[in-house]
Amino acid sequence: MSDESRPAPAPHTPAPTAAVIPAAGRGVRLGPGAPKALRALGGTPMLVHAVRSMAASRAVSLVVVVAPPDGAGEVQGILDAHALPERTDVRVVPGGETRQESVRLGLDALPPEYGVVLVHDAARPLVPVDTVDAVIEAVRGGAPAVVPAVPLADTVKQVAPAGVPGEPEPVVATPSRAVLRAVQTPQGFDRELLVRAHAEVTDEVTDDASMVERLGVTVVVVPGHEEAFKVTRPLDLVLAEAVLARRRLNDGF
Ligand code: CTP
Ligand code: MG
Repeated sequence: MSDESRPAPAPHTPAPTAAVIPAAGRGVRLGPGAPKALRALGGTPMLVHAVRSMAASRAVSLVVVVAPPDGAGEVQGILDAHALPERTDVRVVPGGETRQESVRLGLDALPPEYGVVLVHDAARPLVPVDTVDAVIEAVRGGAPAVVPAVPLADTVKQVAPAGVPGEPEPVVATPSRAVLRAVQTPQGFDRELLVRAHAEVTDEVTDDASMVERLGVTVVVVPGHEEAFKVTRPLDLVLAEAVLARRRLNDGF
Protein backbone atom coordinates (compact mmCIF):
# COMPACT_ATOMS: atom_id res chain seq x y z
CA MET A 1 0.00 0.00 0.00
CA SER A 2 1.41 3.37 -0.96
CA ASP A 3 1.67 6.17 1.55
CA GLU A 4 -1.04 8.10 -0.27
CA SER A 5 -3.64 5.34 0.07
CA ARG A 6 -3.18 4.90 3.82
CA PRO A 7 -5.93 6.40 5.95
CA ALA A 8 -4.80 9.54 7.75
CA PRO A 9 -3.82 8.75 11.35
CA ALA A 10 -6.45 9.76 13.88
CA PRO A 11 -5.49 13.09 15.46
CA HIS A 12 -3.85 12.48 18.83
CA THR A 13 -6.42 13.27 21.48
CA PRO A 14 -4.86 13.15 24.95
CA ALA A 15 -6.91 11.87 27.88
CA PRO A 16 -9.06 14.60 29.45
CA THR A 17 -7.45 15.90 32.64
CA ALA A 18 -9.17 16.85 35.89
CA ALA A 19 -7.74 18.37 39.07
CA VAL A 20 -8.90 17.44 42.57
CA ILE A 21 -8.16 20.13 45.15
CA PRO A 22 -8.38 18.93 48.77
CA ALA A 23 -9.38 22.03 50.73
CA ALA A 24 -11.16 20.49 53.72
CA GLY A 25 -8.41 20.98 56.32
CA ARG A 26 -8.67 23.33 59.27
CA GLY A 27 -5.17 24.77 59.13
CA VAL A 28 -4.29 24.12 62.77
CA ARG A 29 -0.62 25.01 62.27
CA LEU A 30 -1.57 28.38 60.80
CA GLY A 31 -3.24 29.33 64.07
CA PRO A 32 -6.77 30.45 64.93
CA GLY A 33 -9.03 31.76 62.17
CA ALA A 34 -11.09 30.57 59.22
CA PRO A 35 -10.29 27.19 57.60
CA LYS A 36 -6.91 27.63 55.87
CA ALA A 37 -8.20 27.39 52.29
CA LEU A 38 -10.63 30.23 52.91
CA ARG A 39 -8.04 32.63 54.37
CA ALA A 40 -7.25 35.62 52.18
CA LEU A 41 -4.01 36.13 50.23
CA GLY A 42 -3.79 39.49 48.52
CA GLY A 43 -7.48 39.93 49.35
CA THR A 44 -8.54 36.70 47.58
CA PRO A 45 -9.21 33.35 49.30
CA MET A 46 -6.28 30.92 49.04
CA LEU A 47 -8.63 28.35 47.47
CA VAL A 48 -9.51 30.73 44.62
CA HIS A 49 -5.81 31.16 43.86
CA ALA A 50 -5.42 27.37 43.87
CA VAL A 51 -8.38 26.83 41.52
CA ARG A 52 -7.05 29.52 39.17
CA SER A 53 -3.60 27.91 39.18
CA MET A 54 -5.12 24.61 37.96
CA ALA A 55 -7.52 26.27 35.51
CA ALA A 56 -4.57 28.22 34.08
CA SER A 57 -3.48 25.01 32.36
CA ARG A 58 -5.32 24.60 29.06
CA ALA A 59 -5.20 20.84 29.61
CA VAL A 60 -7.36 20.97 32.75
CA SER A 61 -11.07 20.98 31.91
CA LEU A 62 -12.53 20.08 35.33
CA VAL A 63 -11.60 21.13 38.86
CA VAL A 64 -13.19 19.29 41.80
CA VAL A 65 -12.87 21.25 45.03
CA VAL A 66 -13.15 19.22 48.22
CA ALA A 67 -14.68 21.54 50.83
CA PRO A 68 -14.81 21.21 54.63
CA PRO A 69 -17.47 18.56 55.46
CA ASP A 70 -20.03 21.16 56.53
CA GLY A 71 -18.79 23.95 54.25
CA ALA A 72 -19.66 22.95 50.67
CA GLY A 73 -22.32 25.67 50.37
CA GLU A 74 -19.99 28.36 51.63
CA VAL A 75 -17.20 27.24 49.31
CA GLN A 76 -19.57 27.19 46.32
CA GLY A 77 -20.61 30.75 47.21
CA ILE A 78 -16.98 31.91 47.36
CA LEU A 79 -16.19 30.35 43.98
CA ASP A 80 -19.32 31.88 42.43
CA ALA A 81 -18.20 35.31 43.64
CA HIS A 82 -14.83 35.13 41.87
CA ALA A 83 -13.95 35.17 38.19
CA LEU A 84 -12.72 31.80 36.88
CA PRO A 85 -11.94 30.74 33.30
CA GLU A 86 -15.16 29.69 31.54
CA ARG A 87 -13.58 26.77 29.73
CA THR A 88 -13.00 25.03 33.08
CA ASP A 89 -15.85 23.28 34.89
CA VAL A 90 -15.66 23.64 38.69
CA ARG A 91 -17.53 21.36 41.10
CA VAL A 92 -17.61 21.28 44.91
CA VAL A 93 -17.98 18.18 47.10
CA PRO A 94 -17.79 17.83 50.90
CA GLY A 95 -14.56 16.39 52.29
CA GLY A 96 -13.61 14.11 55.17
CA GLU A 97 -11.65 13.87 58.40
CA THR A 98 -8.27 13.22 56.77
CA ARG A 99 -6.60 14.51 53.61
CA GLN A 100 -6.64 10.96 52.24
CA GLU A 101 -10.39 10.68 52.76
CA SER A 102 -10.95 14.11 51.20
CA VAL A 103 -8.98 13.14 48.08
CA ARG A 104 -10.94 9.90 47.80
CA LEU A 105 -14.24 11.81 47.97
CA GLY A 106 -12.94 14.12 45.24
CA LEU A 107 -11.99 11.14 43.05
CA ASP A 108 -15.49 9.69 43.55
CA ALA A 109 -16.91 12.84 41.92
CA LEU A 110 -14.94 12.48 38.66
CA PRO A 111 -16.95 11.64 35.53
CA PRO A 112 -15.67 8.52 33.71
CA GLU A 113 -14.02 10.29 30.75
CA TYR A 114 -11.17 11.74 32.83
CA GLY A 115 -8.16 9.51 32.30
CA VAL A 116 -5.61 11.77 33.99
CA VAL A 117 -6.05 13.29 37.41
CA LEU A 118 -4.02 15.87 39.29
CA VAL A 119 -4.24 16.19 43.06
CA HIS A 120 -3.35 19.67 44.26
CA ASP A 121 -3.30 21.10 47.79
CA ALA A 122 -5.41 24.23 48.24
CA ALA A 123 -2.57 25.20 50.56
CA ARG A 124 -0.23 25.63 47.54
CA PRO A 125 -2.01 28.58 45.97
CA LEU A 126 0.87 29.99 43.92
CA VAL A 127 2.13 27.04 41.85
CA PRO A 128 3.11 28.34 38.39
CA VAL A 129 1.27 26.97 35.36
CA ASP A 130 4.53 25.69 33.85
CA THR A 131 4.86 23.27 36.77
CA VAL A 132 1.26 22.10 36.32
CA ASP A 133 1.85 21.55 32.60
CA ALA A 134 5.13 19.69 33.20
CA VAL A 135 3.33 17.20 35.45
CA ILE A 136 0.49 16.69 32.96
CA GLU A 137 2.92 16.26 30.09
CA ALA A 138 4.84 13.56 31.95
CA VAL A 139 1.64 11.60 32.72
CA ARG A 140 0.36 11.96 29.16
CA GLY A 141 3.81 10.81 28.03
CA GLY A 142 3.29 7.48 29.81
CA ALA A 143 4.41 7.91 33.44
CA PRO A 144 1.57 6.58 35.64
CA ALA A 145 2.52 8.74 38.65
CA VAL A 146 4.41 12.04 38.61
CA VAL A 147 5.39 14.42 41.40
CA PRO A 148 7.02 17.85 41.19
CA ALA A 149 9.88 18.24 43.63
CA VAL A 150 12.77 20.52 44.57
CA PRO A 151 16.19 19.86 46.15
CA LEU A 152 16.46 20.44 49.90
CA ALA A 153 18.15 23.51 51.36
CA ASP A 154 18.62 21.97 54.80
CA THR A 155 20.46 18.83 55.79
CA VAL A 156 17.95 16.27 57.11
CA LYS A 157 18.52 14.10 60.19
CA GLN A 158 16.62 11.01 61.17
CA VAL A 159 16.06 11.01 64.95
CA ALA A 160 14.63 8.75 67.61
CA PRO A 161 11.77 10.99 68.79
CA ALA A 162 12.06 11.75 72.50
CA GLY A 163 8.32 11.66 73.04
CA VAL A 164 8.61 14.60 75.41
CA PRO A 165 8.45 18.00 73.66
CA GLY A 166 11.68 19.98 74.01
CA GLU A 167 13.79 16.99 75.19
CA PRO A 168 16.97 16.35 73.15
CA GLU A 169 16.53 13.63 70.53
CA PRO A 170 19.38 11.30 69.47
CA VAL A 171 20.30 11.36 65.78
CA VAL A 172 19.98 7.95 64.14
CA ALA A 173 21.12 8.74 60.59
CA THR A 174 21.87 11.50 58.09
CA PRO A 175 20.61 10.57 54.62
CA SER A 176 22.63 12.11 51.79
CA ARG A 177 20.94 15.34 50.76
CA ALA A 178 21.86 14.70 47.14
CA VAL A 179 19.28 11.91 46.91
CA LEU A 180 16.49 13.71 48.78
CA ARG A 181 13.74 15.89 47.28
CA ALA A 182 10.99 17.97 48.85
CA VAL A 183 7.79 16.96 47.12
CA GLN A 184 5.04 19.35 46.08
CA THR A 185 1.72 19.27 44.27
CA PRO A 186 0.06 19.00 41.81
CA GLN A 187 0.86 15.30 41.67
CA GLY A 188 -0.37 13.69 38.48
CA PHE A 189 -1.69 10.16 37.95
CA ASP A 190 -3.27 7.74 35.62
CA ARG A 191 -6.76 8.03 37.07
CA GLU A 192 -7.44 4.28 37.39
CA LEU A 193 -4.16 3.76 39.23
CA LEU A 194 -4.87 6.47 41.80
CA VAL A 195 -8.42 5.21 42.36
CA ARG A 196 -7.04 1.72 42.96
CA ALA A 197 -4.43 3.09 45.37
CA HIS A 198 -7.11 4.89 47.36
CA ALA A 199 -9.22 1.73 47.45
CA GLU A 200 -6.41 -0.63 48.51
CA VAL A 201 -3.95 1.34 50.64
CA THR A 202 -5.05 1.99 54.19
CA ASP A 203 -1.75 3.13 55.79
CA GLU A 204 -1.62 6.76 56.80
CA VAL A 205 0.40 8.74 54.27
CA THR A 206 1.01 12.44 53.62
CA ASP A 207 0.82 12.44 49.85
CA ASP A 208 -0.91 10.53 47.09
CA ALA A 209 2.26 9.32 45.41
CA SER A 210 3.14 7.32 48.55
CA MET A 211 -0.06 5.33 48.10
CA VAL A 212 0.93 4.45 44.56
CA GLU A 213 4.43 3.50 45.80
CA ARG A 214 2.76 1.04 48.21
CA LEU A 215 1.26 -0.69 45.17
CA GLY A 216 4.78 -1.20 43.84
CA VAL A 217 4.34 1.25 40.96
CA THR A 218 7.25 3.56 40.13
CA VAL A 219 6.66 7.25 40.76
CA VAL A 220 8.79 9.77 38.85
CA VAL A 221 9.87 13.26 39.84
CA VAL A 222 9.85 16.33 37.59
CA PRO A 223 11.27 19.73 38.58
CA GLY A 224 8.99 21.60 40.97
CA HIS A 225 9.10 25.33 41.72
CA GLU A 226 9.96 27.34 44.82
CA GLU A 227 6.67 29.23 44.47
CA ALA A 228 4.75 25.97 44.83
CA PHE A 229 5.56 25.96 48.56
CA LYS A 230 2.82 24.95 51.01
CA VAL A 231 1.29 27.58 53.24
CA THR A 232 1.53 25.79 56.56
CA ARG A 233 2.71 28.19 59.30
CA PRO A 234 2.17 31.94 59.82
CA LEU A 235 5.51 32.89 58.20
CA ASP A 236 4.38 31.17 54.99
CA LEU A 237 1.57 33.74 54.70
CA VAL A 238 4.17 36.53 54.76
CA LEU A 239 6.11 34.80 51.97
CA ALA A 240 2.96 34.20 49.91
CA GLU A 241 1.95 37.88 50.18
CA ALA A 242 5.46 38.87 49.07
CA VAL A 243 5.32 36.54 46.04
CA LEU A 244 1.94 38.00 45.05
CA ALA A 245 3.21 41.57 45.46
CA ARG A 246 6.21 40.78 43.25
CA ARG A 247 3.94 39.23 40.59
CA ARG A 248 1.73 42.33 40.60
CA LEU A 249 4.78 44.55 40.12
CA ASN A 250 6.07 42.40 37.27
CA ASP A 251 2.63 42.31 35.62
CA GLY A 252 2.61 46.10 35.66
CA PHE A 253 5.60 46.22 33.32
N1 CTP B 1 -7.03 18.58 53.68
C1 CTP B 1 -8.28 18.08 53.34
N2 CTP B 1 -9.01 17.35 54.25
C2 CTP B 1 -8.52 17.12 55.49
C3 CTP B 1 -7.23 17.60 55.85
C4 CTP B 1 -6.51 18.33 54.91
O1 CTP B 1 -8.76 18.31 52.22
N3 CTP B 1 -9.27 16.44 56.35
C5 CTP B 1 -6.31 19.41 52.70
C6 CTP B 1 -6.00 20.81 53.23
O2 CTP B 1 -7.14 21.64 53.09
C7 CTP B 1 -4.82 21.24 52.40
C8 CTP B 1 -4.14 19.91 52.02
O3 CTP B 1 -5.04 18.86 52.41
O4 CTP B 1 -5.19 21.93 51.22
C9 CTP B 1 -2.79 19.77 52.67
O5 CTP B 1 -2.94 19.64 54.07
P1 CTP B 1 -2.31 20.60 55.17
O6 CTP B 1 -1.36 21.56 54.56
O7 CTP B 1 -1.88 19.73 56.29
O8 CTP B 1 -3.58 21.50 55.59
P2 CTP B 1 -4.43 21.40 56.93
O9 CTP B 1 -4.67 19.98 57.28
O10 CTP B 1 -5.60 22.30 56.73
O11 CTP B 1 -3.41 22.10 57.98
P3 CTP B 1 -3.00 21.56 59.43
O12 CTP B 1 -2.40 20.19 59.20
O13 CTP B 1 -2.03 22.58 59.93
O14 CTP B 1 -4.29 21.52 60.22
MG1 MG C 1 -2.99 18.68 57.78
